[in-house]
Amino acid sequence: MRNDYELFTADTKAFIYGEQLRAAQRMLDFDYLCRRAEPSVAALITPERGGFEKLFWGTKEIRIPRMTSLAEAAALFPEADVLVNFASQRSAYDVTVQALDIPTIRTIAVIAEGIPERQSRRMAALARAKGKWIIGPATVGGVKAGCFKIGNAAGTMENIREAKLYRPGSVGFVSVSGGLSNEAYNIVARATDGLNEGIAIGGDAYPGSTLLDHLLRFERNPAIKLLVCLGEVGGTKEYEIAEAVKAGRITKPLVMWVTGTCAKVLPGQVQFGHAGARADTAAETADAKNAALREAGVIVPHSFDDYGLMIEETYERLVAEGVIVPAPEVTPPTIPLDYAQARAEGLVRRPTHFISTICDERGDVHNYCGVPIDRVIEEEYGIGGVIGLLWFKKDIPPYAREFIEMVIQVIADHGPAVSGAHNTIVAARAGKDLISSLVSGILTIGPRFGGAVNGAADHFLYGLRNKLAPREFVDEMKRRNVRIQGIGHRLHSLENPDARVELMKAFAREHFRATPLLDYALAVEAVTTQKKGNLILNVDGCIGVLLVDLLTELKFTDAEIDEMIRAGLFNAFFVLGRSIGLIGHYFDQVRLEQDLYRHPLDDILYDVPPAPEKVG
Ligand code: ACO
Ligand code: LMR
Repeated sequence: MRNDYELFTADTKAFIYGEQLRAAQRMLDFDYLCRRAEPSVAALITPERGGFEKLFWGTKEIRIPRMTSLAEAAALFPEADVLVNFASQRSAYDVTVQALDIPTIRTIAVIAEGIPERQSRRMAALARAKGKWIIGPATVGGVKAGCFKIGNAAGTMENIREAKLYRPGSVGFVSVSGGLSNEAYNIVARATDGLNEGIAIGGDAYPGSTLLDHLLRFERNPAIKLLVCLGEVGGTKEYEIAEAVKAGRITKPLVMWVTGTCAKVLPGQVQFGHAGARADTAAETADAKNAALREAGVIVPHSFDDYGLMIEETYERLVAEGVIVPAPEVTPPTIPLDYAQARAEGLVRRPTHFISTICDERGDVHNYCGVPIDRVIEEEYGIGGVIGLLWFKKDIPPYAREFIEMVIQVIADHGPAVSGAHNTIVAARAGKDLISSLVSGILTIGPRFGGAVNGAADHFLYGLRNKLAPREFVDEMKRRNVRIQGIGHRLHSLENPDARVELMKAFAREHFRATPLLDYALAVEAVTTQKKGNLILNVDGCIGVLLVDLLTELKFTDAEIDEMIRAGLFNAFFVLGRSIGLIGHYFDQVRLEQDLYRHPLDDILYDVPPAPEKVG
């Protein structure tokens, strides 16, 4: 059982309400710095989604659960007795009231600013009635050195390290402001053996717990020997402290300063940052409060400049008197820098895993191989020009663009009976979606259907480069039992020529300077068609050889062309073009709402053997 003066220990577990991953990480980093055995964050409460979040514990990643309700989280983690409530000003009240009702939750830090005063007062009253603690609203929270930290309290890791918050000292500190408390932690660290606990109660007019509440808690904590407090102009709560000192309820030495003494030199009423930081009566001024505290026996410096000195003097006196045995130094572990931060600071580098050389989307306008897309449109690069940029990394001339577009157009479809369309149609009728239907068609593209473009380029180049006479070439392929890719068609023949092939040949003859590979392929065709009329140069073959002729003309080297062949790039023209038709077939089927396709049984040869013998 925890002592009543102790809100946090090295075992404290907390819930964080709200989407506050950075705050959660900061808490875990603090835990790690303190060498806590276990993380202090039990769960994140995020009503919109459950699951878990990956956060760092030193260099390792750990899973922190996300729970959608506080009640559910409390049931699962009854040991968690702190709620760091990051709910917005609109919902912070409801969440706090709900948490106050949960028996296992004892302390609630309310971060939101601007909660209506009526609600703040009600929260505070409820907490008191239930013997629970509220820190805030409008606060960063607080820190128990070496044990536990609320959310973003105490600032950066650097600040935490400098203020030695990774191990407990002898000072109990409480202030109104969170920002000033960070500064005060450093002052305390320089002047003493360090902070034991620091709380910022928040700048609202009606905080859930007061400066005095915490000072009385510190008074009861035997580990705390010296009290340090920072008040603020506005309100009269500091008088309660003077009274408590006078009444002997606070006996430990207390060094305190009320900020805002400068308010008197400013004209009229000055509202400082906090809702409560405004003196409406003479008694609420910083000067009046400092005087009353001094009179009550509190150690009050002459100005904020002397504050550190007074703390140091008091601390030294307590050490001399043997009241304080200075806390031993410890070396905290290093918190690894986050990669993004380290990189931004130029502290780390690492080799990239990818290189990309065709498109850069990081500028205002992305570009294709350095040509911004607005220029691509203005200068009418067309599909052919874009393929030139993205596939070949060349700004190809208009006739080359036109040829590529012609290829795409003529290859776009060849009716429903061919392998690709057939598969797409069957998939569509089986109820598959566009992508699946398209892919099932594309997957049929291969050496017998559409995927002979690349092979044709390869085969005919082999013959030409090796100066094989067409007949020699045909014989050699026959001897090797290899079908010449790009030769032969089921439908087209010498008598029934393929219009697509004729169109491409005519274009090439008109626009290309020379067509050596086409000429070679046609010479081969002259040989194969002697054997059989359908062994013509087919559409795949014609595309393959003309692409090689075009690229040679555009000054691509043999090595570059070989690389494209190795990569199977020439088949991409068929894949791209035929996708247009396959998508058409898919949508056609959907539109027609045709039922599931079933193959006619009399179209299948069933040759299933009787039940096989059992093996083994
Ligand atoms: N190279 C050499 N000989 C061939 C070729 C060829 N490409 N194609 C067929 N033959 C021969 C066969 O060996 C067979 O010879 P044989 O009578 O001495 O046994 C004869 O021609 C007939 O063969 P079939 O199998 O009846 O030809 P089929 O008409 O069935 O095949 C096909 C057509 C699959 C296109 C075939 O010609 C072939 O495999 N071609 C190479 C691959 C190709 O170019 N595919 C793309 C076609 S176009 C497109 O899909 C868009
Ligand atoms: C096609 O373009 O799909 C074809 O040439 C294949 C074929 O068999 O017609």
